[in-house]
Amino acid sequence: MPARERRRFAILPWLGIRPSTSEIVKRELESAFADSAGSTDSQPKGLTVLDAGCGRVSQLKPFRPRIARFVGADIHPPAPGALPHLDEFATVDLCAESDAFPPATFDVILSSFTVEHFADPEAAFRNLRGWLRPGGRLVITTVNRRHPFVWAYLAMPSPLRGRLQRLVKATAADAHPLVGACNSPSDLERGLAAAGFGDLRVTTVGHLARAWSRSWPTYLVGLLGDLLVQGLPSRRSTIVVSAG
Ligand SMILES: C[S@@+](CC[C@H](N)C(=O)[O-])C[C@H]1O[C@@H](n2cnc3c(N)ncnc32)[C@H](O)[C@@H]1O
Repeated sequence: MPARERRRFAILPWLGIRPSTSEIVKRELESAFADSAGSTDSQPKGLTVLDAGCGRVSQLKPFRPRIARFVGADIHPPAPGALPHLDEFATVDLCAESDAFPPATFDVILSSFTVEHFADPEAAFRNLRGWLRPGGRLVITTVNRRHPFVWAYLAMPSPLRGRLQRLVKATAADAHPLVGACNSPSDLERGLAAAGFGDLRVTTVGHLARAWSRSWPTYLVGLLGDLLVQGLPSRRSTIVVSAG
């Protein structure tokens, strides 16, 4: 992370915008790895893990020493050599291809900032449930349409949305169209339960200042967005769910 962004982030815990999304995901993955390692025969060799909608960066990378088989799946194939941390990559539409992996393949699945892009999130949740072995764990991060800025963004005409998205994203390749079909804490809980997930842990966190930290103006708008709803957990910009 560039030093100027680190400086921008340093003030956030002082303003109560903590823990960060990455810290929550790290904690949930730690717990998922610990649970899975304790309940699978594959423990001595490491776990079988899927990054579903892997893009180019993965919070599973630090867990590599504990992973025997690290699979990435995305609707867009990566540039050659772009994902050296993976053992395998599969081009998969997570909403549509239920046979992409055999049932009960994975011990842990991470799907990070993907659900907001899904055309059919409930189908995706059913697929993820099917690919997860019983006792395995899914960790999801996604945006919350109950945040006023996210709500306003989703209400805009799509050409305007596209222009705004490019303003806050590092590259055009990071600007995926937002659908937001299942993007509130309660919709996620309902959708995941309908797909057969249980033992849900739902956390919300202000993430806009971090996500938009590329320039001072976007960072300050993000910070304002985070502070506006800091006292209203169900409206914070980002949702992290861990489900079994
Ligand atoms: C915002 S990026 C997040 C990438 C990465 N997980 C991360 O945390 O940085 C969203 C990713 O989801 C992928 N994606 C969107 N819809 C998908 C679908 N239906 N099936 C598989 N991947 C999808 C996109 O191609 C993109 O790589």
